Amino acid sequence: MSITVLLGAQWGDEGKGRITDALAHEADLVARFNGGDNAGHSITIGNTVVKLHLVPSGIFRPACLNVIGNGVVVNPLNLLKEMAEVRAANIAVGPDNLKISDAAHIITPAHIALDKARELGAGGIGTTQRGIGFAYMDKAARTGIRAGAMHDPAAFGAAVQRHVEAVNRHIQHEYAEHADKLLLDSAKCAADAAAAAAQLRPYLANTFEIVQDALDAGKHILAEGAQAALLDLDHGNYPYVTSSSATVGGVLTGLGVPPKAITRVMGVAKAFCSRVGAGPFPSELSGDLALRLRGTGTNAWDEYGSTTGRPRRVGWHDAFALRHTVRLNGIEEIALTKLDVLSGMPTVKLCVGYVLGGERLRSYPQDMHVLTQCQPMLEEMPGWLEDVSTARQYADLPPNLRAYVERIEALAGARVSLVSVGPEREQLIRR
Ligand code: IMP
Repeated sequence: MSITVLLGAQWGDEGKGRITDALAHEADLVARFNGGDNAGHSITIGNTVVKLHLVPSGIFRPACLNVIGNGVVVNPLNLLKEMAEVRAANIAVGPDNLKISDAAHIITPAHIALDKARELGAGGIGTTQRGIGFAYMDKAARTGIRAGAMHDPAAFGAAVQRHVEAVNRHIQHEYAEHADKLLLDSAKCAADAAAAAAQLRPYLANTFEIVQDALDAGKHILAEGAQAALLDLDHGNYPYVTSSSATVGGVLTGLGVPPKAITRVMGVAKAFCSRVGAGPFPSELSGDLALRLRGTGTNAWDEYGSTTGRPRRVGWHDAFALRHTVRLNGIEEIALTKLDVLSGMPTVKLCVGYVLGGERLRSYPQDMHVLTQCQPMLEEMPGWLEDVSTARQYADLPPNLRAYVERIEALAGARVSLVSVGPEREQLIRR
């Protein structure tokens, strides 16, 4: 039995989708275990960029079975839209290559309305407004609707209608000033939900059984993390986090597998850092340097949210935070992406530690109050001016780039086994 886990090792958007795509050819099954369509993975194949939000990245590999596990929250309407977009790119998606766990939880339009309502007020944290937190709230409160309810579309529609009506009453009471923007037509929501359920019913499955049978048969599974360790509900920068387990522990509960089945943990990190939404970011940059790292938005891989289109905050690579996520998850291998973006800079900097009140911290702080007051310790290194996008071997990369990679490796305490110098499949270099 073997499971490779692929995790975001920073604040998301590290390029996990394309690494999963690269690893998926070794996998018989690719499974999502956390999050929902708040995730956005752009995968470039030739001239086509396909954006995935909920469909696992193994969908591009014909022999792969793709599983949306029990730890995931599913918006049926958005999933159907995404499946149609994938088909439009000539990629087959059907009940033979995609399974949805009966035990996954459903995101209704009312969860989205609640997410939007909170983001309109002072309590907003910059969510993707996909209803993620409110669906997980209902799951934890044991009032949620599970995907298995879609086996009976009419009953599912009625359950969604009841939820929408209850939330409408809450909105009228608590968010009266925004009611015109937020109130939903419950009968329409019910009809849409029932129609979606009728289409998704063939995809529903006992994914525990599928995953366990695959392990028993000696198949190889790739567990594809969404979001990232520093957005994890427990270990991230609470409350500026998502509402699921984006760390290795999420694989065990989000798929239903034993720890000994995990044989490899790979973290994906960017050569610099980015973050969408609010929250602490000690090595954040502003001004021209930030514009330089973010890009103009003309390329699909520039630093604009894949799900929301929001410009991402950017900063120097935070090797201290990476060391933390390496320890937290037992990451043994790192895929370091977007090194090409740093080309042309005479010098580059790395955050090697945090200082508070003149003292260097031993570990990444759990306490938000401490974290927000930390100053980054920056180390400067010579940059590289060469265009590296055509390099295909690690040895062909400029010595200063290799020194940068090897410094990150030493600081993080895990081997950098993959580096990427562009968005195309062939721009991923094994080391
Ligand atoms: P939510 O997951 O939509 O509730 O958003 C909570 C926080 O996680 C916000 O700061 C989002 O910007 C962030 N977030 C959620 N999904 C992603 C992602 O896929 N990439 C990067 N940030 C994300």
